[in-house]
Amino acid sequence: MIEVRGITKKFGSLVAVDNVSLTVGPGEVYGFIGPNGAGKSTTMKVLACLLKPDSGSAFVDGMDVTVEGDSIRRILGYMPDVLGVYDDLTVEEYLHFFAAAFKIPSKSRKGTIEGVLELTDLSEKKKAMVDSLSRGMKQRLGVARVLVHDPKVLLLDEPASGLDPRARIEMRELLTELARMGKSLIVSSHILSELGQMSTSIGIIERGKLLYSGSIEDAYAKMGVGDRVKIRLESPGESLSQVRNSLVEDKRISRAEVEGETLEVEFAPGQKSHHFLIEMLIAKGVYIASFTPETPRLEDAFMTLTKGQVQ
Ligand SMILES: Nc1ncnc2c1ncn2[C@@H]1O[C@H](COP(=O)(O)OP(=O)(O)OP(=O)(O)O)[C@@H](O)[C@H]1O
Ligand SMILES: [Mg+2]
Repeated sequence: MIEVRGITKKFGSLVAVDNVSLTVGPGEVYGFIGPNGAGKSTTMKVLACLLKPDSGSAFVDGMDVTVEGDSIRRILGYMPDVLGVYDDLTVEEYLHFFAAAFKIPSKSRKGTIEGVLELTDLSEKKKAMVDSLSRGMKQRLGVARVLVHDPKVLLLDEPASGLDPRARIEMRELLTELARMGKSLIVSSHILSELGQMSTSIGIIERGKLLYSGSIEDAYAKMGVGDRVKIRLESPGESLSQVRNSLVEDKRISRAEVEGETLEVEFAPGQKSHHFLIEMLIAKGVYIASFTPETPRLEDAFMTLTKGQVQ
């Protein structure tokens, strides 16, 4: 649905996007991560047909962003990082305005708007003034706005920024639901744990260069981030540090650390079976109170790849 082939975008002498390539298929959520000024918004603006790349090409549903902008806009929803201000409109009027702009036939407008209000959980606010909405509600309205023409492709530039924890979870659920409906999404964010939970693939960009693009599992494997487990122990048979020392000798384990009664173990990348560890601990006469697998954290992959460089 989205294909970017080696695009470069310069602003004067600054190379904001440097030879970036990526693909996003139907039903995929592509998490776009990178420090401030990395080039995320610029890449998304090229895809939204708002900026022309200096070189390279980009396609949305097979259409070239530099030539077929009008057709692309019909199937694309772009939510910029800053929303416009529309002081004197109610939520409903605001959405009617965009539905009219997208030439949704007036007969079906009401139904369409009710549908997106429901999906974004804003039905109760339809008579409220846009200005009176809380920040999180405004963000949701931003998503509602890009959904009125039922686009197949969504580009959402930091949709969760400024949201409280509950609103973030709701936003994540909404985006996951949109992917389930078969839409393709590119979602940029600084909140790594959140992207890790909803993305099917990720792109890590720094100083205009894409350092990684691909599936999230491959990212963890490639960056040497293994599965982790937290084990709480009851009356260990041997001293915990001895147990730890024997664990780190095993090739299947890349790290083991003791913190109080807790043993934290990181498996070697790609090591999917964890059962052997339980057997090893029992053989050592250790009583296991709890054994909690933890999914790898996107933060770790991110820190491995980026060096905190900003332009
Ligand atoms: N219109 C513009 N004119 C000049 N420079 C620009 C323009 N837009 C972006 N830039 C520069 O291009 C670089 C990339 O900016 P971009 O907005 O794409 O970063 P970003 O990854 O979205 O960052 P953030 O996380 O802060 O939103 C930055 O150095 C920025 O200053
Ligand atoms: Mg940005």
